[in-house]
Amino acid sequence: MKVTVEPGRRVRGEATVPGDKSITHRAVLIGAICDGVSRACGYLPAQDCLASIRAVRQLGVTVEERGAEVVVHGLGLHGVAEPEDVIDCGGSGTTIRLLCGILAGQVGKAAFLTGNEALRRRPMRRILEPLQEMGAAVIGRNSDQLPPVAIRGAALRGLRYTLPVASAQVKSALLLAGLLASEPSEISEPARTRDHTERMLAAMGAPLRTENRTVLVQPAARLEPIDLHIPGDFSSAAFLLAAAWLVPGSELLLRNIGVNPTRTGLLEIARRMGAGFRVEEERLVCQEEVASLVAWSQPLRGTLVNGELVPLSIDELPLVAVLGTQAEGETVVRDAAELRVKESDRIAAIATELRKLGAAIDELPDGFAVRGPTALRGGTVNSHHDHRLAMALAVAGLVAQGPVTIEAAECVADSFPGFFALLEGLRC
Ligand code: S3P
Repeated sequence: MKVTVEPGRRVRGEATVPGDKSITHRAVLIGAICDGVSRACGYLPAQDCLASIRAVRQLGVTVEERGAEVVVHGLGLHGVAEPEDVIDCGGSGTTIRLLCGILAGQVGKAAFLTGNEALRRRPMRRILEPLQEMGAAVIGRNSDQLPPVAIRGAALRGLRYTLPVASAQVKSALLLAGLLASEPSEISEPARTRDHTERMLAAMGAPLRTENRTVLVQPAARLEPIDLHIPGDFSSAAFLLAAAWLVPGSELLLRNIGVNPTRTGLLEIARRMGAGFRVEEERLVCQEEVASLVAWSQPLRGTLVNGELVPLSIDELPLVAVLGTQAEGETVVRDAAELRVKESDRIAAIATELRKLGAAIDELPDGFAVRGPTALRGGTVNSHHDHRLAMALAVAGLVAQGPVTIEAAECVADSFPGFFALLEGLRC
């Protein structure tokens, strides 16, 4: 599917965005191993999360999608069934990685996990190696580097481990395996990453606590089912915020957005760039910070994004490249080599596509450098089948001098169904 974005009109009004993708995955995957029925209102019915729902159904878990709510009939920590067929995780890294943690500890049960072409290129050793250290029988293609993955559930030992890369998916998989193990585990991360798993597990009564950058987890007897209200996804809201920051005369109010501080690095980047925004009505809903965000346009300046800020803004960094094209001076992202192993190589892809519109952007091994401001021209760009690329390029189209056509734009449905219609409805 091709979508053309015409430049020019202001972005004004009020909106909400679909539910948080990371929390939806966890509600489904962790709900599956609770002792009883969990509910998650405001879940995200997007392609990525549907892969998690299909996967746990293959494990014998009943999942009902009832309007805005998903109801998961958990089978207990060790109660899921051996799947009768290969589990297809679609394009979802969160699904395949968190499932590895859960399935590695299901003693005697075999499972086989795969995904689409893009997922089958994404690194798995980072999960399989520490799970093997726990005594798990897990292997992957290409010497454990890639999916498909084969698992024979085993009794797991505890693990003391420092993650070599800052990854919430790896941390979460190991915490889930740690709950199923027979001894305590300590999982340390090199920089803070999103902590939705820790918050949800604590609410379910799991024996875990965090000290600085280490999560200590004990073997669990059971997880209590919970009722959740899932906020709007900050990573989806980010595209609308950026639209308001960039298009002159814009002002936007976004309600019910998740603002867990391990997710909102983009707000710190925006502050450094001089972007106009306010956070209002911040409150805690089901262990997660939620707020309204007001954003408006004003001139931007370049900034440096590196170090600990990177994992806190990891999914928004392609969008920072777009902001950089309109900012005065240089916008540089470093320490973000992880972007190369996301749904696409997001460093190469954003640099290639923005250059087609006339941007002055250089690829770096671990990031990029953009010089601005540049008057972008219209043209045709490609999403590389990456939802966040498609949406970042759509935002670039709002400030180009001619129409921008995005090829392979259907992938926005992986995380933000209805994105183009919502954006169009806010323009005047
Ligand atoms: C996610 C963690 C991040 C992020 C991804 C979702 C999660 O990946 O990029 O979109 O739900 O835990 P990594 O943990 O691999 O960095």
